[in-house]
This record gives sequence, structure tokens and C-alpha cells, in this order.
Amino acid sequence: MTKSPRRAFVAANWKMHGTRWMVLDYATDWPEVPAEVDVVLCPPWGYLDRVRSVLDGKGIRFGVQHTAIEPRGAFTGEHAAEMAGDLGAAFAIVGHSERRRLFGETDEVVAGKFAAALRAGLTPILCVGEVLDERRQGAAETVVATQLDAVMDQCGAPMLAGCVIAYEPVWAIGTGETATPAEAQEMHAAIRAKLVREGVELADTVRIVYGGSVKATNAQELFAEPDIDGALVGGASLDAVEFAEICCAAA
Ligand code: 13P
Repeated sequence: MTKSPRRAFVAANWKMHGTRWMVLDYATDWPEVPAEVDVVLCPPWGYLDRVRSVLDGKGIRFGVQHTAIEPRGAFTGEHAAEMAGDLGAAFAIVGHSERRRLFGETDEVVAGKFAAALRAGLTPILCVGEVLDERRQGAAETVVATQLDAVMDQCGAPMLAGCVIAYEPVWAIGTGETATPAEAQEMHAAIRAKLVREGVELADTVRIVYGGSVKATNAQELFAEPDIDGALVGGASLDAVEFAEICCAAA
């Protein structure tokens, strides 16, 4: 199978992990990664500025794990997408399954946050994925299609043209259980076909990355699939050396 000319994209989702010292160690340990891979770090909001200042100039770009819908106002504890831009972030993870499941983010809220990211000039990394029961019932593709439709209905299909889509089967997140390369490829191809059907301009340039227990040991076989353009990495991204290895595997 031949790989597409799309640039590989590998992002780290640190989730709620890290300390000021870990950030310094990360910068010290970070090895060189081939320039043809887009590498993005999404630390917790509180460390974004520090991460950016110690890792700037290493060919890495930065993102946040969530944003508010509103640009400003009386929303205690929230962070606006515009603030992420102000801190030097270029990406925002939107609709992660943990936000959907633990913080009640509905498809409508996710679409609002997708729009907020675009409004602030950030590139959304839109997460979609089914839970285990849905996969067992053969409904995985329908679930993912519904999640994509919610964003396309609210924001318009053309708005997906510049974004990154992360297929993260919920049953594979943090469980050590990865979708097989064939299972992931099948869903990635279905997502791409849907984008083409919906008339998303240049659908072939939209990167569709896989997330769910990606490690240095399994990255290569996932990236060998024609429609897997990279990864959104959780646990394994907390170790600079392992995360860099995953980035290198995508080159
Ligand atoms: P793990 O890599 O820890 O399974 O997490 C995946 C994920 O949720 C990335 O957003």
C-alpha cells in the first residue's frame, strides 16, 4: 500500500499530568525529530506558557485540551480559545471522549467549541469514536458519522477542510488495548469517504489520526496503513523519548 502525500501529524495529549519540573526534564530529554512530521504538544492549560517557552525552537507546535465556547466573560474557571492563541497555541483538542463522558459535552457543545477554535484562529483536533457496546452492535461507523454530522450541521461542512480528525475508539483509550491496524484503517477510510461525500473541499488533505493506547511499540504498524496519518497520544506522550520515537515512526 502506498502512503499519501499528507504530512504526518502526531500530537501529545498530556491530559491532567505534569509538573513544572517534568516540563523542564521533557525539554532536556527531547531528541531531534524529522521536520516532515507535524508535532504538537497539548499540556494542561496551566503549563502551556512554560512548555512553550522551554520547547520553542525545537520544531514543535502547541495546543490546548479544551476551551470554552465564549470568547470572554463571567465564566469562572474557564479558558477561551482566544487565550490559547494569545499564549502561542495553534491547536485545540475538541470533543475528546473524556470531555464528552465526564464533563457532559454534548455533540452540540462540541460543535460550539469547534466553532470557537476556528474563530480564534486555532486548528481544531476533532475527536470522534465509539464505545465498546456500540462497536459490538456494529454501530461504530454510525456513531462516528453522527458525531461528524453534528459539527458539519452547526459549522458547515467546508469548515472541516483545515482540521485534524482524531479517531479514538473509547474502548482503546488508556486500556492498553489498541484497535488493530485493520480496524483503525477501516474507520479512517470511512471517515475520509464521508468527508468526500459531504463535499469537504480538499478532503484528501484533512489529516485523520488514530488515538488509543498508541506506543512506540505499535506506532509503526498503525502508521503503515494508508489512511492513518498520525496519532493523538495520551499516556505514552508523557515520556519525551517515547513520544519522539512515535513521531519518528510517522516520518
Ligand atoms: P492513551 O494513549 O493513554 O490511550 O490515550 C489516548 C487519548 O485519549 C489521546 O487523546
